Amino acid sequence: MGVLNVIGLGYIGLPTAMMFAANGIEVVGTDYNKKLVDTLNSGKLTFEEDGLEELFNKAVAEKIKFTTEYIKTDRYIITVPTPYLSDSKKIDAVYVVKAVENVLDNCEKGAIIVIESTVSPGTIEKFVKPIVMAKGFTLGKDIHIAHAPERIIPGRMVYELANNSRTIGADEKEVGEEIKSWYESFCMGEIVLTDIKTAELSKVVENTFRDINIAFANELTKMCHKESIDVYELIRIANKHPRVNILQPGPGVGGHCISVDPWFLVGDYPDIVNVVLGAREVNDAMPHYVFDRIHEIMREHNIKDFSKVGLYGLTYKENVDDTRESPTIQLLEIMDKYNIDNVKVYDPWIKADKVKNQYHDMESFLEGTELVVVLVGHDEIKEKQEFLSEKIVYDTRNIIEFGKVIYKL
Ligand SMILES: NC(=O)c1ccc[n+]([C@@H]2O[C@H](COP(=O)([O-])OP(=O)(O)OC[C@H]3O[C@@H](n4cnc5c(N)ncnc54)[C@H](O)[C@@H]3O)[C@@H](O)[C@H]2O)c1
Repeated sequence: MGVLNVIGLGYIGLPTAMMFAANGIEVVGTDYNKKLVDTLNSGKLTFEEDGLEELFNKAVAEKIKFTTEYIKTDRYIITVPTPYLSDSKKIDAVYVVKAVENVLDNCEKGAIIVIESTVSPGTIEKFVKPIVMAKGFTLGKDIHIAHAPERIIPGRMVYELANNSRTIGADEKEVGEEIKSWYESFCMGEIVLTDIKTAELSKVVENTFRDINIAFANELTKMCHKESIDVYELIRIANKHPRVNILQPGPGVGGHCISVDPWFLVGDYPDIVNVVLGAREVNDAMPHYVFDRIHEIMREHNIKDFSKVGLYGLTYKENVDDTRESPTIQLLEIMDKYNIDNVKVYDPWIKADKVKNQYHDMESFLEGTELVVVLVGHDEIKEKQEFLSEKIVYDTRNIIEFGKVIYKL
């Protein structure tokens, strides 16, 4: 096989391309974002991630190339975004379609195109295969399509790329085996082969399972708040049962996987998915719940002005710099609707100014702040807990032990 062309060099595509390159496969990474490609070519990374710098150095030593051009070759991996349409909740396949079209305009006959982007079941059948045929290729002969969804979690991407089990969906068995051999260059986990549609659904189901479990934990939080029961103690006890594993509640779910993918099922199977829809609604409503709790706590302590309130954490999870769909940003949007624009915000991982009243060091963020709302459990706040000793703390992550008064979610 020839050079491997990875299309889309974001949170998934970049580490994947580098992992292949660092493990003996000749790789060209393509992204239509010129600024991003220029940054990589100048030797700088485009986001922070544990172990990524080391991987980058290895991949560069193996002569990985970054370009805005699609390469003429016989193997491609597509890792472009897959959002949902806000009204119908169905997948918006526009990025995948565009990338596949571009690949088809450049590839060799007989090429294998692997879609790694998360897609709803039937997306490849409905959106990808018709383009292949429309461009005059015979599917299964001139072009082979497969799906290899990604499971890695930001913060542990490099470790998980090497160690997670993965799924490859291919309707042609030999093509599945061929793709498996590519991933075996770095993946030490089990690689399961299945058909395309099962692979599509399995990825969405994994994220939906977590969404539902978190929604259950969030509902328990609201019940426990009414009953003055510690929800964390409740979950700890329940999880002693050998067949119970309730996840932790939180201020909402963010990122690309949990907060987006279950919507695909709501869009495609509206008559079936009661539990999935319910979970989506519960988790999406959590920033509203947090907003109400902030009000309650402010009233209790006679804090009248939001300038005395500080939100710690802007990212959607701890120790990453990704703010997509983050609960804090949703909370700020709710506040904005109520014309509250003076709340303070700080996140050690977000260096650029992203929101109003954003601070860039913890000391100035805490100066004059009476109520600190901990929304993300970054290591920094865990390690500098004493800084909160004199503050009223609303800890939505159950990590803080220091504080004048500590409220839980
Ligand atoms: N981020 C995660 O944690 C995660 C985990 C598992 C799966 N996924 C899935 O992986 C896919 C990619 O997600 P991501 O977080 O890496 O997205 P991203 O937005 O970080 O990166 C996508 C990249 O693709 C580029 N791009 C878009 N269309 C292109 C085209 N036609 N040609 C060339 N480049 C193009 C963009 O410029 C961008 O750099 C999505 O389907 C997502 O759901 C993401």
